[in-house]
Amino acid sequence: MDLERHDLRGVSIFPGALDTPVQERLVERVREIARAAPMFHPETRWGKQMSVKMTSAGEFGWISDRRGYRYERRHPSGVAWPRIPDEVLAVWDRFAPAMRAPECCLVNYYAEGARMGLHQDRDEADFSQPVVSVSLGDEGLFRVGNLEKGGKTESVWLKSGAVAVIGGEARLVHHGVDRIRFGSSRLLKDGGRINLTLRVVT
Ligand code: SIN
Ligand code: MN
Repeated sequence: MDLERHDLRGVSIFPGALDTPVQERLVERVREIARAAPMFHPETRWGKQMSVKMTSAGEFGWISDRRGYRYERRHPSGVAWPRIPDEVLAVWDRFAPAMRAPECCLVNYYAEGARMGLHQDRDEADFSQPVVSVSLGDEGLFRVGNLEKGGKTESVWLKSGAVAVIGGEARLVHHGVDRIRFGSSRLLKDGGRINLTLRVVT
């Protein structure tokens, strides 16, 4: 059966990409990552706490603090990031075949009320490589804008098991999550939404 695919301003959305058993295994892997590298609330450069909690797996993790945004080889506690689990790498291989291997799996956790403002993913060195995003748990309202700041935007609800590929001409498109529908999924026992983004960093 062909996989359902939608184009949202150049971002490819695959709503039913991952079945429930796969989603459950991915959640298990995320819990292992968070045990090795605990989730933290990053601060922005301006000292404002972000509403999502984050951690990473891979050679690099994404960090934000008063010194700015960047990739680091270590968790703020000083421990190395755990490796990217095979089940997560399998998603990359399926949706970004023939691309370089991902060097970071950023894990975002959206509790009730958390959101992420419109931004570009531009801390990576090689924009020929896509960002592959996996949604787990509660639905999130994903907004996609333009390469430039401002202008029209379009939104779609990303349900658990959806994969989005931000690549090609849309690699630097502005995107964000306006809100989640807390309690809309039973995948996570305490609710909320997990988003994984796989990136090639160097
Ligand atoms: C991100 O842009 O890093 C996260 C996107 C999402 O949560 O769907
Ligand atoms: Mn992003």
